[in-house]
Amino acid sequence: MAFTITVNGRARRIDVDGDTPLLWVLRDVLGMTGTKFGCGMALCGACTVHIDGAAIRSCVTPIESIGKSRITTIEAVGATPVGAAIQKAWLAEEVVQCGYCQSGQIMSASALLASNPRPSDADIDAAMNGNICRCGTYVRIREAIKRAAQTNQRGA
Ligand code: FES
Ligand code: FES
Repeated sequence: MAFTITVNGRARRIDVDGDTPLLWVLRDVLGMTGTKFGCGMALCGACTVHIDGAAIRSCVTPIESIGKSRITTIEAVGATPVGAAIQKAWLAEEVVQCGYCQSGQIMSASALLASNPRPSDADIDAAMNGNICRCGTYVRIREAIKRAAQTNQRGA
């Protein structure tokens, strides 16, 4: 079945079954491998992307449910001020270890800051709760989100 979806501002026409998960479309059809497969069951957060700015798990999001919504992936998140602030903060705090979970972490963190520019520790924990990091980078992730919140407010 043919669908046209908007990914990172670009209309993409695809031909897949309607129940195909968005993650499969991104990685296997469109060749955008920045979004990762972890569990396939909405349990780990590795596959997180934005739909109309909200963080969602692309492994359990059927392509037929997307309609005209705008999809943003890790490949384009740096084009937004919040996404750029997050990426800078991630580098400054040297968050990444193996890296596998990190695109999902960045997508969840940037959705959080876009909707809540001054998150408390509890807000951060609630927003990041579903993103698992087997390397245990949670402390640095929290510091990086706080750093990004500060630089984003200063417009840096
Ligand atoms: S791969 Fe989607 S939540 Fe784990
Ligand atoms: S950095 Fe290795 S799983 Fe998170």
